[in-house]
Parts: sequence; C-alpha cells; structure tokens
Amino acid sequence: MALGAGNVGNGLARRHAARGHDVCLAFSRNRGKLKAGARAVGARPAEPQQAVAAAEAVVLATPWTVTEAALQSPGDLSGKLLWDCTNPLKPEMSGLVIGTETCGGELVAAWAGSGARVVKAIPPFAEQMAREGPLILEDGRSPSVFVCGDDSPARSTVVTLVRDIGAEPIEAGVAAQRPVHRTRRDAAGAPRLSARHGYVDRPFSIARLSSGGGLAIAFRNPPGA
Ligand SMILES: NC(=O)c1ccc[n+]([C@@H]2O[C@H](COP(=O)([O-])OP(=O)(O)OC[C@H]3O[C@@H](n4cnc5c(N)ncnc54)[C@H](OP(=O)(O)O)[C@@H]3O)[C@@H](O)[C@H]2O)c1
Repeated sequence: MALGAGNVGNGLARRHAARGHDVCLAFSRNRGKLKAGARAVGARPAEPQQAVAAAEAVVLATPWTVTEAALQSPGDLSGKLLWDCTNPLKPEMSGLVIGTETCGGELVAAWAGSGARVVKAIPPFAEQMAREGPLILEDGRSPSVFVCGDDSPARSTVVTLVRDIGAEPIEAGVAAQRPVHRTRRDAAGAPRLSARHGYVDRPFSIARLSSGGGLAIAFRNPPGA
C-alpha cells in the first residue's frame, strides 16, 4: 500500500497492480480524488490505519513537508516494511531541506519508530512510470534505483518490488555505512532532479563499478568535449 497517492504513489500503484499486487492508496486531503485516482490505476482507496494494518509493504510517497504527518497517520509501524521514496526537498524543489549532517532516510527512520523496517529507494521519475509499456529510457536502458537499508530481508523485498515496476535495482547496502550512504541515498535522486530542472547541463548515469561492486554517479561529457 502507498501513503501518498500523487505522481509517485499512483505510478508505482499502477505498475504493481498490473503485476498482480493488491494495492491500496491512502493519505489524501481529498477523498473523492483519492477514490477516482485509485480506481484509475487498479488500486483501492483506504484510510492509512486500516491499509497499513493489512499491508506487507508500505510505500511512503509524500512531499517532504508532510512526510512526518503521513508517518503518524497510520499509527504503529512496528514490524512494517516501509519503502521510503521521499526526497527531502524544499517545496519549490530549489534544493534539499537537510544536508550533510543528517539525511532524509535517517529522519524517516526516526519518525517511523525503531520497529519499522525502513528501506530507502528513490523510484524513477513519475513521468517515466506513468508511460504505458516497459520502463525504458531514451538510451534503451531501464532506470536504476538504489536500494538501501539495514534490514536485509526488507531490502530484498524492495529489490523485487523495484524489479516489478521494470526498473533496475542496485543494492546499496546497509544504512549504517555513513557518510557514504548519505550521499548515495539522498544524492542519488538529486542529480536526476537537478538535470530535470536545468541545474546541470550534462547527462549523467549511475554505474556499478566492476571492482568491489562500488557505485558511481558519472557525468557524461557532451559530444566533442
Ligand atoms: N515526482 C517524481 O518524479 C519523484 C520521483 C522520485 C521521488 N519523488 C519523491 O516522492 C515523494 C512524492 O512525490 P510526488 O511527486 O508523488 O508528490 P505529489 O504528486 O505532490 O503527491 C503528494 C501526495 O501527498 C498527498 N498529500 C496529503 N496531504 C498533503 C499535503 N498537506 N500537502 C501536499 N500533499 C499532500 C497528496 O494527496 P492530495 O493532493 O490528494 O491531498 C498526494 O497524494 C516526494 O518526496 C518526492 O520528492 C518524486
């Protein structure tokens, strides 16, 4: 089930429902909109508390400003797998609200409570997920999604869920390996957002390094550079 039925919540719900998952959407200011949106993507509208109680996995897909409130809406999250899709962005998306001292994933884990099994994995752009057909980028590749968290079985489940939408999961390991994972977790989405909003002028790619399985965000040089 997804807390947040906007661009990301709907996009994930549509692709997961198409793969046979039973999906609920919850946490909206407008019950009518939630109902219509859920029906359109093959999901069911629900109240957060009722949906989370029955869910095997809870997808957190809310704007950063309401993320803490969303996590309070279902009540106790102990034992629940929480797939955190959020970026700690300012409302106008001009930058991150928090930075080098902590990261969004850490705050979400604190807000969710110590019993929640939090996995951070920023999904592909909603506009890509909203397209019909396979999730393929212009260069013919599937978008990469870093999957990071301390709970190994929970991480494996999110890896499967990422694969189910047609994206390529990249296991980024446990959250405790700071500060590298701060960069990986919060910055992994940032170059894509930056590129989208014109803050960088070069295409980039995320690559798995052959030696040691490390990860890199590489900016490709423009032709002729
Ligand atoms: N968009 C992307 O391409 C993308 C990709 C990766 C990650 N993300 C991250 O995923 C998260 C969700 O992004 P999104 O684009 O799906 O957001 P969005 O379209 O704005 O969706 C927001 C959802 O939160 C609900 N909500 C409930 N109370 C709200 C309130 N007080 N103010 C605003 N929304 C409220 C909205 O429901 P109602 O409007 O019905 O009330 C809606 O279902 C963000 O943290 C974002 O950074 C986004």
